[in-house]
Amino acid sequence: MRIETVNELNDTSVGLREKMRILVRTANGMLSREVYDALFDTAKVFGGGQIVEVGTAHGAATIALGLGAAAAGTAADILTVDKMGGEFSTRRRYGTPEQNSEIALRNFQAAKLESRVELFVGGLEDLELARGVPESIDLLMLDADGRIDRDLLILYPKIAADAPIIIDDCDENVFFGETPEGTLYLDLKHSITAKLIRTFCDGQFLLLDRTVKDTAFCRKGPRKYDPEEMAERTLEAYRELVFHSVGGQEWDAIQDFRGRAGEYRLAMRLLRATPSWMLRTGSIAKKMHLIRA
Ligand SMILES: C[S@@+](CC[C@H](N)C(=O)[O-])C[C@H]1O[C@@H](n2cnc3c(N)ncnc32)[C@H](O)[C@@H]1O
Repeated sequence: MRIETVNELNDTSVGLREKMRILVRTANGMLSREVYDALFDTAKVFGGGQIVEVGTAHGAATIALGLGAAAAGTAADILTVDKMGGEFSTRRRYGTPEQNSEIALRNFQAAKLESRVELFVGGLEDLELARGVPESIDLLMLDADGRIDRDLLILYPKIAADAPIIIDDCDENVFFGETPEGTLYLDLKHSITAKLIRTFCDGQFLLLDRTVKDTAFCRKGPRKYDPEEMAERTLEAYRELVFHSVGGQEWDAIQDFRGRAGEYRLAMRLLRATPSWMLRTGSIAKKMHLIRA
């Protein structure tokens, strides 16, 4: 039997995983099924407590984490942070920050997680200024704009020893994008994320357990908070962007892009006009090497 709706499921652990898979699709989830499964599994064993997520989008990863914790019967509170807009945010395709927040909140309700999830609309710095970050963080998920140095500088002292730290976009790929106003841009988010993870692992601030697709499943390393060393490592990582190697495929795509900018623009217009359910977790956009930030 093929299960298509959440109502067909009961809340057993298997049921919750299936429910999660359906809900992340309807929440326009941008990650792959394997990654959502791995998030669910990580939350199932983390033991409960405070989860912090930066980069909610419409709540797909939030739901995978929340239902994973629910499957284990552990109490997890999730504070999830997103600007829900900004020049290069994919959320612009879905409307204003208010409209995007409403979509995310509706998705939390559909997952019956509304009493466990709090959405903060803004950046992590805004959260820090407005009310401070949680005193203790038991699981951290980073999937915002690739500036994980900023997020770790703010949150590192609050993260519990050995706590899972999951960071998306850890490959070296370069993407092309176009804002709704027609500004073409190169997206180096994956590249800087990969470089920052590498240097924080070298410094033992992070320990990398495994990667699933382009998501790194790490843990907090044994190093004490050392903002100076973290900042030095960060600067070196950004310096590496000055000369950026590109794979043959990317180089061909750049050349192709120059010659066929008009066609790409048309493709982008079609992509924007395509209902999100047809995009199937962004895989079309990914294949086209289009932006996913
Ligand atoms: C790739 S999406 C997150 C996808 C989501 N985790 C999922 O499973 O579908 C990145 C999100 O980060 C948000 N974002 C970008 N920069 C941010 C920042 N500095 N602070 C908070 N959120 C940010 C964007 O608005 C966007 O919604």
